[in-house]
Amino acid sequence: MGYTPEMLEMIKKVEATRAARVEKKARGEEFAAMGIDERNELKKKFHPDYKSDALRKVKIGPNAGDEMVNKFVDVLETPSSLELDKVDLNKVDYETDVLIIGGGGAGCAAAIMAAEEGANVLLMTKLRLGDANTMMAEGGIQAAVRAKDSPRTHFLDTIGGGHFKNEPELVRALVFDAPVVIDWLDRLGTMFTKNEKGVMMTIHGGGTSKKRMHSAADMSGAEIMRTLRDAARGKPNVTVVEFEPAVELILDDKGQCFGAVVKNLETNQYKVVRAKATIVSTGGSGRLHYQDFDTTNHYGATGDGLVMAYHAGCKLCFMHPVQYHPTGVVYPAQNIGLLITEKVRGLGAQPINAEGEQFVFPKEPRDIESSAFIRECHDRGKGVPTPTGRVGVWLDSPMIDMLHGEGTVRRELPAKFRQFMNHGIDISRLPMLVYPTLHYQNGGVEMESDAHSKQIPNLYFAGEVAGGIHGENRLMGNSLLDINVFGRRAGGSAAKASRSVELGSPSLTHVVEYNREAGKKGLTGRVAAPILLPDYVGKIK
Ligand code: SIN
Repeated sequence: MGYTPEMLEMIKKVEATRAARVEKKARGEEFAAMGIDERNELKKKFHPDYKSDALRKVKIGPNAGDEMVNKFVDVLETPSSLELDKVDLNKVDYETDVLIIGGGGAGCAAAIMAAEEGANVLLMTKLRLGDANTMMAEGGIQAAVRAKDSPRTHFLDTIGGGHFKNEPELVRALVFDAPVVIDWLDRLGTMFTKNEKGVMMTIHGGGTSKKRMHSAADMSGAEIMRTLRDAARGKPNVTVVEFEPAVELILDDKGQCFGAVVKNLETNQYKVVRAKATIVSTGGSGRLHYQDFDTTNHYGATGDGLVMAYHAGCKLCFMHPVQYHPTGVVYPAQNIGLLITEKVRGLGAQPINAEGEQFVFPKEPRDIESSAFIRECHDRGKGVPTPTGRVGVWLDSPMIDMLHGEGTVRRELPAKFRQFMNHGIDISRLPMLVYPTLHYQNGGVEMESDAHSKQIPNLYFAGEVAGGIHGENRLMGNSLLDINVFGRRAGGSAAKASRSVELGSPSLTHVVEYNREAGKKGLTGRVAAPILLPDYVGKIK
């Protein structure tokens, strides 16, 4: 339990420089942020996306010829796992106005809004309602609500963080809806951290020029998920079905979305859902462990929605840049890969190398911060080894109490405090050891700003499955925001559209054709498509 005597010895170097670093920081002096050229050079040399085997061109489907992250191409180059002979499209098992596939934050936000528009909503989810990456988010949600901030500044920060590649219309929707979302969540009952006057507290995140990160201690995602899940469950016209994930979308003879084939995980039986409008909110793909990285992601994050949408003819975007969160746990070994929220750096903790030196501005955008950590460990030889053969850098959390007063760590980071205390480490007295961990799928399925698919009528997207909002790199707090912004937009748009939709006859020809095309190209597949549940048998090191 706790740090080994060797590690405690190494920590002495961090302690030796701490008082001077705190003093400097209190004077407002900070390690300089990098310029654009320096950032680009660092990223090219050290970010995992730039390793020679990181990407390859996909050979099939709407993005044929585009480079994407290698392990995801394995999934796209696998024929559909759906056993077509076991599906009877003439027998409809569920019928609804709006089908929502996925029960995380985006799915629940969509359900609430669609129900309020008067639609009957069927929400089908792979695991339990709320088992999702939303639940795992810690640090907060961005919104420009303070007098000295504005959605325009939030727009510029977001575009800068995304390296100027984001879809401007999606960013516009994100930042201008943000204040509405914060007010909505507050009224639904989210317990945001507030000061004694009842005003929400805001802090900085990486890449933000203003303090606009709203949090619920360091459990912001869990608290927002609780609120949305309870509100969705409370709607009489929302039906939730758990453990029945969608495995393929169904199109009709007019080329519009007709619903989905779902699979009962207990009986393995396929069922047909007929829906006037369908929303895909299945989340990200961190459980594919791109480049064998550990991940912060929920067990169900296997990219299923991307695969189904791709088989149906939707284009994907930004599937080449992957987000590695700089501060994943590397010690204790039981917690490897778990998230240590950016809020820790937002509160003033600095990344420190084995020599006790600060080596990077703590609030660079995540891809830059991660690249700097990797350089420190693997190029400069200033990483800290762990007893299980890992390497990391220190995150000097005791600075937080020194900067803001005794008790701040316990008050602002209660979940992290308890998580480390369970292993005998008091993070208000001792630093944490961290290394980048696979955190977020920057890209996803192309969509319009009303969340509608760019390619298939009657089909909508919300949450991590959607692409374009964040360009090449998402900023902290813009994900808890986008699940709400586009969940709400998808729910409202789908419910309104469902009033006038005329569905044709159902078809899975697109799946048959995808399989045929894969066969012609000799792509027999290496995994399942969609994966549904990650397979760790024999893979845990
Ligand atoms: C964090 O708290 O650092 C994660 C939240 C996010 O990815 O926005």
